[in-house]
Amino acid sequence: MKVAVIFGTRPEAIKMAPVVRALKAAPQIETLVWSTGQHRQMLDQVMDLFQIKADRDLGVMQPDQTLNGLFARVLDRMDQVFAEERPDRVLVHGDTTTAAAAATAAFHRGIPVGHVEAGLRSGHMDKPWPEEFNRRCVDLVADHLYAPTTWARDNLLRENLGPRRIVITGNTVVDALLHVKGRIENEPDLAASLAARFPQIDPSRRLVLVTGHRRENFGAGFLNICQALAEISELPDVQVLYPVHLNPNVQRPVMELLSGKDNISLIEPVDYLGFVYLMGRSALILTDSGGVQEEAPSLGKPVLVMRDVTERPEAVEAGVVKLVGAKAENIVWSVREALEGPSRAAIANPYGDGTAAERIVQEISSAL
Ligand code: UD1
Ligand code: UDP
Repeated sequence: MKVAVIFGTRPEAIKMAPVVRALKAAPQIETLVWSTGQHRQMLDQVMDLFQIKADRDLGVMQPDQTLNGLFARVLDRMDQVFAEERPDRVLVHGDTTTAAAAATAAFHRGIPVGHVEAGLRSGHMDKPWPEEFNRRCVDLVADHLYAPTTWARDNLLRENLGPRRIVITGNTVVDALLHVKGRIENEPDLAASLAARFPQIDPSRRLVLVTGHRRENFGAGFLNICQALAEISELPDVQVLYPVHLNPNVQRPVMELLSGKDNISLIEPVDYLGFVYLMGRSALILTDSGGVQEEAPSLGKPVLVMRDVTERPEAVEAGVVKLVGAKAENIVWSVREALEGPSRAAIANPYGDGTAAERIVQEISSAL
């Protein structure tokens, strides 16, 4: 059986790395790794860390790319690949343009699609935008739906996707996180070299780690976020560390408004090993990322999400993640509250137990 694993962005690669590993360990399966190259530097960081080599790289990324241009390039180039090689199944991940366009191309060619991280829903087509459309689009054409949680499975059932094959697998991000976290905890030399990589961290200050990239926050949202970060950096004993996403719509306001400020370090996106280390070092994480919400329960850190709605309610219900929106005043108030609150412990992760990739490969193998 020939299975093509398709991804193109940083989070997809982190979450597909355990799947690639588990597929490659299955002797009856020939695993093909196809990257659309929707991201470049941020994707290559993940590929290097997990030692994954793409059998095909479509190299679609362009500076400040448009959604339609990107979708069209992925659709067209993926179709050419499908014309040359006919996998028995393709696996796509999550809610990116890579996932939606590659799944559409496979559907048009009559190739069965497996959707890893199926069934997430915010219930708002504009939040996150365009991801809510992308994930619905993939679920609509997928034959095999790998839902991370019962909540995600129930969303699929409500949309009458029950006749397809739905399996609850857990989220593969937990597999990736536990693997990397375990390495940092068990390899003292590695932990020491990671500490040396971030000399800007002042151990006498509480570290607020920040990420942000949502399209619906571009413009006014990012101006508010930057204003909030400037205020947070003035709180006593606080230091802000912000690996800035490479999207120019993020880079422009962040660099313009926050460069050179005391107690704010703006750095390049960090490879996953470094980022997991930084999450472990932080007092609090401020983010709009999907993946970080899923990692939060395993970390024992307060995670404040700069969004109004989430397609990942389980960690909110578990009291680990709080939605704080993108208004400066609310962000600052919530950061103060969280920093003053009691410290937390890691809890059992509602998104998975680290065996999601194995369950996905078991389902694929059961078709043999
Ligand atoms: C994309 C996904 C989003 C996902 C996010 C993860 C879509 C529509 N968006 O958003 O769902 O949460 O990735 O990070 O699929 N760039 C670089 N180098 C890189 C990556 C990006 O220079 O390695 C710059 C380029 O100018 C590029 C721009 O960022 O054109 C936007 O990249 P794109 O993938 O379209 O959007 P993201 O905001 O990264
Ligand atoms: N991440 C990383 N380096 C960074 C920032 C984030 O490796 O500098 C990881 C993070 O731990 C999570 C994933 O990247 O696993 C999230 O990616 P992103 O926020 O870009 O996308 P999203 O999850 O929102 O789709």
